[in-house]
Amino acid sequence: MKKIIFWTVIVFLAIQFIPVDRENRPVDRRDNFVDIYKTPENIRTILKNACYDCHSNETVYPQYSYIAPISWAVKDHINEGREYLNFSEWGKYNNDLKQNAIKKAISTIQDLQMPLPSYIGYHPKANLTTEQRKALEDYFSTILSKDNGY
Ligand code: HEC
Repeated sequence: MKKIIFWTVIVFLAIQFIPVDRENRPVDRRDNFVDIYKTPENIRTILKNACYDCHSNETVYPQYSYIAPISWAVKDHINEGREYLNFSEWGKYNNDLKQNAIKKAISTIQDLQMPLPSYIGYHPKANLTTEQRKALEDYFSTILSKDNGY
């Protein structure tokens, strides 16, 4: 028994040394969603609080994300989130991708898939009210109706 505990502790300590890349790439205003659309402040705040940690290059890493193996799970979510949708790289998407991403965003907000429920527990600000969800949906819908996502 003692041996098991000993080795568990050693492994736990050892994995803390495996590096996790937490560097954010710089945001180019020309590609940045909120700069492109001149998004109003209230919507920016909602996006920042609820989506940016996984869907932008402006991720704020929480304290717990520095402890392995949690850090790996967090980084996984961020990598995957950015792959699907990165508001900081919006300008690089073609029109189809943009339209698709906005449609998906509306539906994931509606059916409470986004922000990820597991994330909300640690980020109360991401626990959007019905009004905030509605505001975000309406905003995305306006962008969608403006000539094809531009
Ligand atoms: C904690 C991380 C996290 C947060 C916060 C988050 N997402 Fe996601 N998002 C993901 C991950 C991971 C995926 C890919 C896997 C999946 O669909 O669950 C994803 C996928 C998506 C997709 C693509 C869905 C598809 O099926 O193509 C959209 C759109 C999206 N998120 C929008 C949002 C919006 C809008 C917000 C804020 C209201 C948000 N997300 C907040 C992690 C996050």
